[in-house]
Amino acid sequence: MDNLIKSADKKILIAPSILSADFSALGAAAVKMERAGADLLHCDVMDGVFVPNITFGPKTVADLKKATRLPLDVHLMIVEPQKYVDAFIDAGADFLTIHYEAAGKQLIPTLQKIRARGVKSGAVISPDTPVAVLKDCLAYCDLALLMSVYPGFGGQKFIGGSLKRLTELTELGKAANPGILIEIDGGVTLDNAKSIAAAGADILVAGNTVFSHPNPAAAVLALRG
Ligand code: DX5
Ligand code: ZN
Repeated sequence: MDNLIKSADKKILIAPSILSADFSALGAAAVKMERAGADLLHCDVMDGVFVPNITFGPKTVADLKKATRLPLDVHLMIVEPQKYVDAFIDAGADFLTIHYEAAGKQLIPTLQKIRARGVKSGAVISPDTPVAVLKDCLAYCDLALLMSVYPGFGGQKFIGGSLKRLTELTELGKAANPGILIEIDGGVTLDNAKSIAAAGADILVAGNTVFSHPNPAAAVLALRG
């Protein structure tokens, strides 16, 4: 019962992904999301190696930091993330999330390094990676992120099996680390947000759903449920 009350009262955090913005006006897009009532600004960093797309680096994150008061939720889709965490922390990342598939043996040391610098640490897995691989690192994570699309592009369709994986990650995550936040990224819509929240997500990333909506504030509100 206690759990039911808690889950019903839980505030779902919404993190619009700047990937869906007009890149010639990122600052204005960040301000727009702040005014729309977003909780975090999700920043997708892609290197053209780990994923088949290229976005931006620390300079853009630093400029976004000046443009908005929203906490920056930086999702690194890059190889050897351990080489760049300092640069993104210096740029103002509030949450910094690295891929299990990219970090390999450097995963836990890098999560520790992120935390030691006073930033929230996150680990993320792509759709083909079993959830259980994260078990050992969850104690070092403030955030665990599940990709519900193949990383690289916005506007893709939510992969159906992700809900089951989300439940699994929520159970594993909260058992290892009760304070952990569970985040989902990719294909979140006004139609599936409710079932995603029910499966345990604390943070919903949404690119296309918020940015393509004529009224982003209404989209944020509807996503929060
Ligand atoms: C994909 C990115 C996502 C993406 C989500 O690689 O990590 O953050 O922007 O966009 P939507 O919500 O449009 O699927
Ligand atoms: Zn992302």
